[in-house]
Amino acid sequence: MPESFFVLSKDNLELAIDEITAISKMYDRFSKVKALTNLVIIQSKINWNEIAKRASFVKVSGQILRKMSGLFLDEDNFEVLKNAKSFGCRIINLSSNQFNIPELENSMGDMISKFSHAKVELEDPDITVYLIFTNQENFFGFSKRSKNDHIPKKIKTHPHELDRKMTRLMLNLVGLKEGETVCDPFCGTGTTLLEAETIGIHAIGIDFDKKMCEISKQNLKANGYKSEVINGDFQEMLKISEKYDGIVTDLPYGRASKVSGNPEKILKKFFSILPKRKKIAVMYKKELGVNLKLKGLKKYEIYRHKSLTRTILIK
Ligand SMILES: C[S@@+](CC[C@H](N)C(=O)[O-])C[C@H]1O[C@@H](n2cnc3c(N)ncnc32)[C@H](O)[C@@H]1O
Repeated sequence: MPESFFVLSKDNLELAIDEITAISKMYDRFSKVKALTNLVIIQSKINWNEIAKRASFVKVSGQILRKMSGLFLDEDNFEVLKNAKSFGCRIINLSSNQFNIPELENSMGDMISKFSHAKVELEDPDITVYLIFTNQENFFGFSKRSKNDHIPKKIKTHPHELDRKMTRLMLNLVGLKEGETVCDPFCGTGTTLLEAETIGIHAIGIDFDKKMCEISKQNLKANGYKSEVINGDFQEMLKISEKYDGIVTDLPYGRASKVSGNPEKILKKFFSILPKRKKIAVMYKKELGVNLKLKGLKKYEIYRHKSLTRTILIK
């Protein structure tokens, strides 16, 4: 079974590990995941690139060719380089040992040049060959150049909008697949709708503020996207519940945006009416939810600054 590696950003590491795990299990529920601090090794039927292209917090990723115990590579591992026009070598040192990284990268390059006609290119090579050191194991891997990090355009923004990576993270944690439909009942500028359509998930947005609906529509149009936007109260989500598979949303915080009532009461009402048998990812300002009694949900807390910690709940 192919093995892949993912070097994750160390900010919000628990979330990053859970995200990559959720994506790999969504496509192959028998995937095996092993985390060595911020390096995650996944055995799965799915190619590394399919997993990496959905993830928000992956810095570097690729295919593991085989585990290595020194700077020794066998013939098979060079097969992949034979058809490449250019290559680059990168050492990723996640261990507590010190290495002379430029020297090691040069030696790897020299060694590969003896077996392959590919030229060394540092900026944007066809193939990057990695040597990854950790305190537990070392790995040899490679990745092909891929240009699939499509970022949707946002022509209209608003101070209350959620960062696109956090939105993508919630879509991933909840395990929504291509072809499924998500509903965001507090859609604001349409971040959820934009991120969803970018990865092939259909989307329906609801917002009680006409101005926000207009902003969402303009942002969708700028990308040629077709998500539906409904001007109405979030409770409209109940009337259309047969149309979607999951809810991903960021509830009102009580500042920066218009809000139809007390944000704490909205949060309480929202949880009390959530449709059953749907995938749910909800973000809200932590202090608004302190009195909520919720069971069976995975909870994360994200510190932003001294007056804002966000909670994410996943079902
Ligand atoms: C925190 S913002 C959502 C931001 C959004 N995730 C984005 O990236 O733009 C909350 C949104 O909820 C909307 N809202 C407030 N009360 C509402 C209600 N009762 N029903 C539906 N939408 C409501 C506000 O207009 C605002 O756009």
